[in-house]
Amino acid sequence: MELTQRLHVLVPAAGSGSRAGTSKPKQYQALAGMPLVVHTLKAMALIQGLDSLNVVVSPGDNQMGGVLQCHPSLSQVRVWPVGGETRAASVGAGLQALLDHGAAPGDWVLVHDAARCLIQAPWVEELIRCCRDDAVGGLLALPLPDTLKQADATLRVRATLERTDKWLAQTPQMFRLGLLQNALKHAGSSVTDEASAIEAQGLQPLLVRGNALNFKVTYPEDLLLAQCVLQARSQENPA
Ligand code: CTP
Ligand code: MG
Repeated sequence: MELTQRLHVLVPAAGSGSRAGTSKPKQYQALAGMPLVVHTLKAMALIQGLDSLNVVVSPGDNQMGGVLQCHPSLSQVRVWPVGGETRAASVGAGLQALLDHGAAPGDWVLVHDAARCLIQAPWVEELIRCCRDDAVGGLLALPLPDTLKQADATLRVRATLERTDKWLAQTPQMFRLGLLQNALKHAGSSVTDEASAIEAQGLQPLLVRGNALNFKVTYPEDLLLAQCVLQARSQENPA
């Protein structure tokens, strides 16, 4: 895939995984024989036309280096120990590291949660195809499949909301590096995805239909589901 601007991937992996109920941070939890983040990085490494693959870890992280050493196919991954208190802070610090090490503000960056370990390169390539000529950028997302309820304070249904125009935001989210860095600086640390920061600038990111299997491993049951999918894939395509 030919792009005029360079294309970087930034994977935030500096969280503690408190909701996953694992003894270590979920990105290092073994799934189908490999740490969760290795599945994520291996899939992202297959994207056509990538210029750099980067992962953000917390400053005290002492696991990523060893994990990557065990997987020679990931030798090109650059590790930035600049993670912050929130996902937005980790992404902001990672973007700054890229800019400080030769990336240009006009380059594209694909920010992808380490915790979405079932991502597949063709899904990302479709996002790139849809966004490469776009002035704003966009994200993988899924039309809401279920009926949407609004709750009151006592957890009783206040209303059923129209769902036809509602989408679940996934990652990767693809924006120009300088635009995103500036948007995140203004949005502060509470935004939970890149698109929210871009929206706060008055811009409208493009929604590109993703895949339900690109869910984020958040709760213990997600680990079980991800493990089943990874095992099924390895039976379909034995190494
Ligand atoms: N993340 C990060 N820095 C943070 C918080 C999160 O880089 N301070 C990363 C996580 O490692 C994960 C992604 O952002 O890959 C999505 O965040 P989430 O699923 O919320 O992960 P955690 O914050 O680790 O989990 P929890 O909220 O359950 O503690
Ligand atoms: Mg979190």
